[in-house]
Amino acid sequence: MKLSFGLSLVLAASASAGQEDCTPKQVHIAGSNDASQAMTVTFLTRDKCDQASISFGMDIDSMDRVATSTDAPYTYSQETTKYGSYTSDYIHNIEMSGLSAGSRYYYSISGSDVHHSFTSAPTSATYPVKFSVVGDLGQTSDSASTVKHMSEENVDAILHAGDMSYSDCDHTRWDSWFDMVEFVASETPWYVVGGNHEIEHSDVSNEIFVAYEARFAMPKIKDAVMEPTTSGVATSCTPSEMYGAHYDYGNSFYSFEWGPATIVMLNSYTDTAEGSPQYDWLVSELEQIDRKKTPWVIALYHCPSYNSFSDHQGEKQQIEMKENMEPLFAKYRVNVAFSGHVHAYERTFPVVDNEVNEFGPVYVVTGEGGNREGHASGYLNDTPPSWSAFRDLETFGHSTLEIVNSTHALFTWKKNVAPGLFETADAVTLKNQFFE
Ligand SMILES: *[C@@H]1O[C@H](CO)[C@@H](O)[C@H](O)[C@H]1NC(C)=O
Ligand SMILES: [Fe+2]
Repeated sequence: MKLSFGLSLVLAASASAGQEDCTPKQVHIAGSNDASQAMTVTFLTRDKCDQASISFGMDIDSMDRVATSTDAPYTYSQETTKYGSYTSDYIHNIEMSGLSAGSRYYYSISGSDVHHSFTSAPTSATYPVKFSVVGDLGQTSDSASTVKHMSEENVDAILHAGDMSYSDCDHTRWDSWFDMVEFVASETPWYVVGGNHEIEHSDVSNEIFVAYEARFAMPKIKDAVMEPTTSGVATSCTPSEMYGAHYDYGNSFYSFEWGPATIVMLNSYTDTAEGSPQYDWLVSELEQIDRKKTPWVIALYHCPSYNSFSDHQGEKQQIEMKENMEPLFAKYRVNVAFSGHVHAYERTFPVVDNEVNEFGPVYVVTGEGGNREGHASGYLNDTPPSWSAFRDLETFGHSTLEIVNSTHALFTWKKNVAPGLFETADAVTLKNQFFE
């Protein structure tokens, strides 16, 4: 009697208040255009909650600054024949600005008592800086191990070379993927580029990259320009070929500085040819990088320029991107180019136009994040090409790049041994060929 009376009181209280459910979910962060001064937090709430805010500060006991959203919370919807229609919960992007470089901050989102912390990007002359790099992660138990291992690396930021959730048009799987990564992504800036699994072509609307553009807030050149497919419409949700669609700016391609590095994020699945928005932007971007300020230049994109496995050979957009952009990487002495797509690990020697060349970039395939499709199927040839320094198709894992000073960086590939246990399987000191 007493118990049921109490219960009905509680129910009445919550119903009569008519409150929105503003519990923040799937919290993740990335630097704003200048990550040493501003960080953007992205999270979802069940209801619109347009008064959502973030308290932050350097002292966990007095997070006395408040940030609110400049844009209204939004949802996105997509319909496919296979999964029907999906509408997301409300997505919020809130920027914490006016930060000091290289400083630890604490923050708390309205609707929750949970405290998170992060460190803003350091000034350009700061060493060391350290990044973990992963591709083709997915959300299996292997993926979870990789995320846990990256969380233990104490890195400045995580760089993801495409193929994140493998939701493959079942958008509830984006929600579960963000749940999986939240414990890291709410504290370590997580920067992404789109892979074919982010295309998520709708066979109803022909739209592409809808979830990817809506769910991430990367540093931005300008608002996304998205042109759905107009010809040769594919039925696949994750086509490996692009069939005439375009996706420029927004989360498609962009760059940012983090300490002594400029990181250039590119999209294999939009036009890469000379005269395209992406190509022309890349030329001007590489042209204006001040190597005294950021001696290191790192590129990320999904489709590898160098790949000696039997998977994903001869794909149109991979060939075009390599033909069009490799000469730029060589000319401007990009230090390392990371890709995924092939579910394997491979590191090249410095290479230009398929020949080992001390002035060339090192290319890394780091596509063994752990997704449900498993490992690459085999090698193109048993004997590795002359440019191939190390390769693996048996173990999931991630890469780490630690920039030690203006001329040296330590690159490692860490393989998963067991959940919570990983070890270095490949390690090399990279010299900055810009100064050779
Ligand atoms: C940079 O780091 C490398 C590797 O630790 C070291 O050999 C070199 O002397 C350092 N250079 C400078 C200028 O400190
Ligand atoms: Fe892929």
